[in-house]
Amino acid sequence: MNLDKEIKRRRTFAIISHPDAGKTTITEKLLLYGGAIQLAGTVKAKRSKKFATSDWMELEKQRGISVTSSVMKFPYKDHEINLIDTPGHEDFSEDTYRTLTAVDSALMLIDCANGVEAQTKKLFHVCHMRKTPVMTFINKMDREGRDLFELLEEIEQVLGIATYPVTWPIGRGGLFRGVYHRETKELILYEKDSDRSSRIVPLTGMSLESEELEKQIGAELAEELRTEIELLDGAGDHFDKERYLKGEIAPVFFGSALNNFGVQTLLDYLVSLAPKPLPRSAVQRTVDPAEKKFTSFIFKIQANMDPSHRDRVAFMRICSGRFERGMKAHHVRHKRAMRLGRPTQFMAQDRSLVDEAFAGDIVGIHDPGVFKIGDTLSEGETLSFTGIPVFAPEHFVRVQLKDPLKSKQLNKGLDQLAEEGAVQIFRPINSNDQYLGVVGILQIDVVKYRIKAEYGVTVDMKPLPYTAARWISAEDPKKLEALKKEQANNICLDTHGNPTLFLDHDWRLKFHQERHPEVEFHTTSEAVSV
Ligand code: G4P
Repeated sequence: MNLDKEIKRRRTFAIISHPDAGKTTITEKLLLYGGAIQLAGTVKAKRSKKFATSDWMELEKQRGISVTSSVMKFPYKDHEINLIDTPGHEDFSEDTYRTLTAVDSALMLIDCANGVEAQTKKLFHVCHMRKTPVMTFINKMDREGRDLFELLEEIEQVLGIATYPVTWPIGRGGLFRGVYHRETKELILYEKDSDRSSRIVPLTGMSLESEELEKQIGAELAEELRTEIELLDGAGDHFDKERYLKGEIAPVFFGSALNNFGVQTLLDYLVSLAPKPLPRSAVQRTVDPAEKKFTSFIFKIQANMDPSHRDRVAFMRICSGRFERGMKAHHVRHKRAMRLGRPTQFMAQDRSLVDEAFAGDIVGIHDPGVFKIGDTLSEGETLSFTGIPVFAPEHFVRVQLKDPLKSKQLNKGLDQLAEEGAVQIFRPINSNDQYLGVVGILQIDVVKYRIKAEYGVTVDMKPLPYTAARWISAEDPKKLEALKKEQANNICLDTHGNPTLFLDHDWRLKFHQERHPEVEFHTTSEAVSV
């Protein structure tokens, strides 16, 4: 076994997109290329979009599906790909953000008609903060969409990342015929094979100037393509791999996931250009993936909602060395050795036990209730990986206990759920209340349900009028105190005692920032946590 070779083969990425941009569809096509599924439609045993949040059977079913599709591993042309799902729709939660701490790059999917949408913006922001390299796929080119130059401009303006179209579409909507690859100078034409797949028509060695081009795509499209490529080339941008790796420029591809147009071109580029597993920072030092000793961190804990199966799966990202089934690892926070039970990898709907895994791989392990988000595992070394922050909640409730005698069980339950990363707990500095904060609204119902089902406590969750929170810090403690005093009714402490300002309107943040220029307002807890 050659550790270096194994690491070089690995690509670990997530797809970021707004619901309905085509994430499920493109995932399915990627899995098809990886041979992980035989038929398109397997991933699409997709959740019903219309279930009521009170329908717990549906919720359980949905969570069941999201467990199996959380991480998909598949081989492609001598590469091993780990594709991590970023839950969207109703199950959008802090997990969605946190997933992005476990990847080395991201694929941003944009609907050509809708452009940059809200959820894409939020997820991109996390990538940007972490300087994660991002590739872009403009989807649904078989439909009428926006002007593409405008669309690229929007990506640059709204997201603040430069773009470089690697491919460019030939025709749009009903006339979409394929793409021109600006680097290989190849025309890649597609022919619909059957309902939802396509065949690439090989047209190598045909230049843009060639007369054959007219014969293939017609005079009008040929003319349009030549003009647009001239425009792009004239803009003088060039693709700089270093800038891509720093998250400053996004290579852009066009296609139609539904018709499988352009997906393989993207995948080929991704395996050749996206980074292999990268070194990870720990408080003590930077860990190189090629180090012989195994290290990993827990970035997601998935509890099964079914009370008859109270098991949890902790997902770890391996940062260095080799993992082997049955191995014991050092749990750094608990300062003890533990066997990592039932190591599992997922492929579409199937789970399989893992015999060995390497840096970059994501493995699910059995969690008997000992893991917390951010925990580090090693072969004995005391290491704490950084970069797994808590993200500012967007929905808030006050917890009201129906039976005061149950406060101990309630606290135990909430602590446990907070360790899993399902909820954040805050205490207002001015009262004895308990506030909960979550990123996705559905989490409130999940927490309420689980507290009842697993700890036998009935609680009421009274919505609070807040829409955002920011951890606050300042070099000069007096400056921080001034804000705390002024906003005492809106200041809460998180579970580590870090002060957090709760905000009821977006504009208020700007107001406080202007009024207290020496105070810093953080969207993640990392900057203030110890
Ligand atoms: P999501 O996971 O990002 O939410 O999106 P999903 O793949 O479910 O796609 C959302 C809708 O967009 C689906 O239609 C899907 O078929 C369609 N779609 C995805 N890619 C393309 C594309 O390249 N071209 C076109 N024209 N449509 C595309 P739906 O009607 O909601 O579902 P279905 O009935 O097709 O399954």
